[in-house]
Amino acid sequence: MAEAASDVIFCTFDPARPGPYESYLLPHIPVQARLEPERFLGLGAAFGQYALAAAAVSFDRETPGQVLADSLFVDPEVRGQGIATQLLRLAAAVAAEAGAHTLKLSYILAGPELTAMDRVARKMGGDPAYVRPVYTMDSAQFRDSALLGRAFTAKYRPPESVVPFTDLTREQIEALYADPEVPWYVHPRNRTRMRPELSLAFLLEGRVAGFWLGSVSTPGNYSVQGVWRSPAAPVTTFHVLVAAHLNLCFYHGGGDFRYHCSPAVAFADELIQRYSEGKCRRLEEHAASIPLPYNE
Ligand SMILES: CC(C)(COP(=O)(O)OP(=O)(O)OC[C@H]1O[C@@H](n2cnc3c(N)ncnc32)[C@H](O)[C@@H]1OP(=O)(O)O)[C@@H](O)C(=O)NCCC(=O)NCCS
Repeated sequence: MAEAASDVIFCTFDPARPGPYESYLLPHIPVQARLEPERFLGLGAAFGQYALAAAAVSFDRETPGQVLADSLFVDPEVRGQGIATQLLRLAAAVAAEAGAHTLKLSYILAGPELTAMDRVARKMGGDPAYVRPVYTMDSAQFRDSALLGRAFTAKYRPPESVVPFTDLTREQIEALYADPEVPWYVHPRNRTRMRPELSLAFLLEGRVAGFWLGSVSTPGNYSVQGVWRSPAAPVTTFHVLVAAHLNLCFYHGGGDFRYHCSPAVAFADELIQRYSEGKCRRLEEHAASIPLPYNE
C-alpha cells in the first residue's frame, strides 16, 4: 500500500487565494471560490514551503449530506507515495466534520492514473463507476485533416446558412425551443454552460435545422455542449457546423486551443471519431461515493 512520506504536511487552505497551490488546482476552482467563498475548501500537501499536491472540496446547499472532492492533482515527481490517498482521507475527515454522510469523488483521467484513482476510491469503501467518455484534442491536430484543415486557413468563410446563436431572431429561437425533434439532452435550454456567442445554428428556409453548441471553460479550453441535426437538414450539416465552430474558436481565442467533447449517446461518439479521424485522446469520467465517517 502506498504511504505518504512522513515529512509531507497536509493542510486546508482558502482556494480563493491558493498561493503556492494554484498550479495544482483546476483553474475554475479559484474563480468559483471567489464568487462563492463558503462553498469551497482547498486541501494541500507540502514539503516545507513547497506545494506538492492539491484538491478541492465543495459543499452544495441543495445536497447538505454530500461533499464533493475533485480537482485532485499530485505533482508527477511525488506520485506513488500515498499523497492522493492522504488528501482524500483529509477530504473525508473535513466532510464528516461538516456533517456529511457521503464524500463524492469525480475525476476525468485515463490509463494508470485512472486505475490509481479507482483504487483509492475502492480502498475507502467507494464504488467507482464509469460516467461518460471525455475526448480531448489539440486544435493543431486538425490542421492536416483533409476534412477540417480548411477551417484554419485565412480563406475559410462559413456558409451563409451558418449563423451564431446571437444572430438568431426571437422567432427563430422560439421555433427551435418548441421543436419536438430536439432531444432533451442536447436542448439549448438544458445546456446551462452553452455560450450563445460560441454556438452555431444551421438555417434551412429560415428555420434552425441543426446546431453545434459551444462553451469555453478557461482561456484556450473550448468544449462542445451538444449537437443536433433535424432529419430535414442535409447530411453534410454536421461537417459544415464543426468546421465553422473550429474556425470560431480559433478566432475567439486568438490561436490554437484545446477542444473537449463528452458525447451523451453512441452516435455523437462516432461523430467525434469520424471528424477527429481517431486522433483525439479518450479520457473517462468516473464517480464514486464514499460512505462517512471513513475509518481505516
Ligand atoms: C491519480 C493521482 C492523483 C494519483 O496520485 P498518487 O499520489 O500517485 O496516488 P497514491 O500514491 O495515493 O496511490 C493510490 C493507489 O494507486 C496506486 N497507483 C499509483 N500510481 C499508480 C500507477 N501509475 N499505476 C497503477 N496504480 C497506481 C498506488 O499503488 C496506490 O494503491 P496502493 O495504496 O494499494 O498501493 C496522480 O497520478 C495525479 O495527480 N494524476 C493527475 C490527475 C489529474 O490530471 N487531475 C486533474 C484534475 S481531475
